[in-house]
Parts: sequence; structure tokens; C-alpha cells
Amino acid sequence: MDAQNLIEMAETYGSSNYAPVPLVLSRGEGVWLYDADGRRYLDMMSANSATNLGHAHPRMVKAVCDQAGKLSVISRAFYSETLGPLMKKLCDISGLDRVLPMNSGAEAVETAVKIARKWGYVKKGIPLNEARILACTGNFHGRTTALIGFSDTRKAYEFFGPHTPGFDVAQYGDIESARQRITENTCAILVEPIQGEAGVRIPPEGYLRELRALCDEHNLLLILDEIQSAFGRCGMMFSHDGEDIKPDVLTLGKTLGGGMVPISVAMGRKDVMDVLVPGEHGSTFGGNPLACRCALEAIAIIEDENLCENAKRQGAKLMDALRKISNPQIVDIRGRGLLAAVEMGEGEMSAHDYCERLRERGVLAKETRVHSIRLAPPININDDEMDFAIEQLVGALSA
Ligand SMILES: Cc1ncc(COP(=O)(O)O)c(C=O)c1O
Repeated sequence: MDAQNLIEMAETYGSSNYAPVPLVLSRGEGVWLYDADGRRYLDMMSANSATNLGHAHPRMVKAVCDQAGKLSVISRAFYSETLGPLMKKLCDISGLDRVLPMNSGAEAVETAVKIARKWGYVKKGIPLNEARILACTGNFHGRTTALIGFSDTRKAYEFFGPHTPGFDVAQYGDIESARQRITENTCAILVEPIQGEAGVRIPPEGYLRELRALCDEHNLLLILDEIQSAFGRCGMMFSHDGEDIKPDVLTLGKTLGGGMVPISVAMGRKDVMDVLVPGEHGSTFGGNPLACRCALEAIAIIEDENLCENAKRQGAKLMDALRKISNPQIVDIRGRGLLAAVEMGEGEMSAHDYCERLRERGVLAKETRVHSIRLAPPININDDEMDFAIEQLVGALSA
């Protein structure tokens, strides 16, 4: 079947919850994606950080095949050979104590919300059903009915109320705004250390440290959502590592599955996570042997191949090149490690049009929140591949 027919079939039978570019991809290898005609494109999206290791990484393919041929899914009524080792590994690299595995990122955040609420009742003494969680403007934590209720993206929330009560919103990056919105029933602050979906918004230096201190002062949990920003994407294992703080609860997902399977976790301090007792939370597929095996291999690859260091080095090169692009329509360039964005102001061409130009030149990127072009190639991108990406970016984004 040719590409046009495949697109028409998806449009005919699919719900239109996404507006994909008219491109059918059939194969991936490393940083490259190939369409059915064999044309190759450099992937500057990495499935929003789900494929930080690129496509079909040989070690990931082997891990999937080995484990799939052995044991993929069992009931969580049992233990497996991969569950405990993954939990221990995640605790070792994060300095936290307990892990609760789920599947999607949104589920991990939902899990964190449940844990924070119960902690608020049983440890902090908040009256039952009165707990509040403070989130931030520009947030993106997933698409569940609870999480969209405190989104400020109209399309995310407008027709999907009534919204779940118990959430407040402070200005992202503004510690005074957070301080003013804390009530005696607030149990947690939920924040992305870097807001990927909002267009790679980086808060002011010291913001996370100030949030940590604010949480300590008011006996609140600090929940960091690192679903997009962790595992080397920002040049560190966790993007909060740069601020020398520890969250009480951390949510992870996306690249944890090595680009092969969905797996997410909510993890945290022992005394916080231990508020849950058997029967209060769970998921059929959460922590299945295949997903845990993939996660173990993905973390091992990041460590063995020094990918945090590579992301830092290649990210510096990318930022340097982006800053030299001459186009008065560019109003801002932001980035940390290999999570970067070019923000376009008003002009004849939209961010979407620039992405089309990039596609014609063999680079796949997509606009986020209308005006920003997010650039996030696999973190194992090498020098030649980055040179190619930069050449095309300069060509497509220059005025
Ligand atoms: C910071 C953050 N949290 C949560 C999510 C939701 O993850 P998922 O789409 O796997 O539910 C995302 C997805 O982009 C994200 O970037």
C-alpha cells in the first residue's frame, strides 16, 4: 500500500486527536528515520524524549527479544527477575528509596498525586478530602481528566470539565507566586524542572532550590516531573541534578522504556511512598518483566555510553550554532543539554512553516505551543550527525 493510501486509511478510521505531518515512517536506525521510499530524515524530536537512545539501538533490540522470548507480562501478584533489580537501580541513581511502576507518564503523575494526597491526610493531618496541590502555569503533566483540569492550554481543558478539585496554580519560575498560593491544606508542589511541552521554558537559576526550601518551611512534598527532562536529555541523569536538591517524589517515563515499551514510575522517599498499602493503587501492566528489562538496559546504555556527557557537549554545539542564525523573526533561543527551542515571533512564516522547510531538508522537528520549534535529537547523536542537523537548521531558519 502506498503512503497516500496509508494516510487516508488512518484519517478515515482514526480519531483526529493528533494532526500528523503527511509522512509515513517505516524504519528507524540510530538518529535516522526512513520513509517507505527509503528517504531518510534526522529525527530531532525523539518522540518527545521517548527515544533518547535513537531507534533500534542494538542492545535494546537484543534486550526486548531476549526478554520477550522468556517472560513478558505476569500479574503483579508475583515477583519477576527484573522488577527488584530495576527498582534498586532507580533508587541508586536518584538517591530515593521506593519505586512504584506504571506505564504512561500521565499515570505516573496521577500516582504521585494520590500519594501526595494520602500523605497530606495521614502524615500532615489535612482534613479528609481537603488536600490541595500547587502546580504551575504552562504545565504539561499528561491528558487524564484530573491533570488537564489545571492546564492553561485551552484545547487541553475547555470541553472536558467538570474538572477535578484540589489544584491551585502558581506562576512558573516565580517563588513569590508559589508562596502566596500555599494554604494550610496544601500538601505538595508539582513542577517540571524544565517545561518541555511549554516550549523548553527554563526557570531562573535557584528556583528549584527555593521551591525545596519553601516545601521544607511549610511541610509540603516537592514533586518533580522529570518525564521529559531526565535520563541525559538535559546533559545530566536528572535535570534537577544541576541544582543539588532532592525531590520527595519524582516521576519518570518516556526514555525509561528505551524507546521500546511504555514504562513510567513514581518514586520517592520511603516515609512518603509507604503511605500506600496493598490494594490502594496499581496497574495491570505496571512493572511487567519486559518493561523492567528494557528500563534496566536503557539506563545501562546511558551510563556505558556516557550519554549525559554527549548530550551536554552536542547541546552546547547546537546552541552555539542556533545563536549564530541570522533571522530577525527569532525572538528567543532556549536550551539545556539536548532539549532546545527556537521561538519565532510574528512574521510571514509560522513555526510550523519553518518545520516544513526543515522536513524538505531531511530533518524532522515540530512546533510546540504554536511559536516554538523544539529540537531534541537522540542523545547519542554523533559529531557528523550534529553537523548535518546544524547545516539544515542554518539553511531552513535563516531569513
Ligand atoms: C513533563 C511531562 N509529564 C507528563 C507527560 C505525559 O506523559 P505521557 O504522554 O506518557 O502520558 C509528558 C508528556 O509529554 C511530559 O512531558
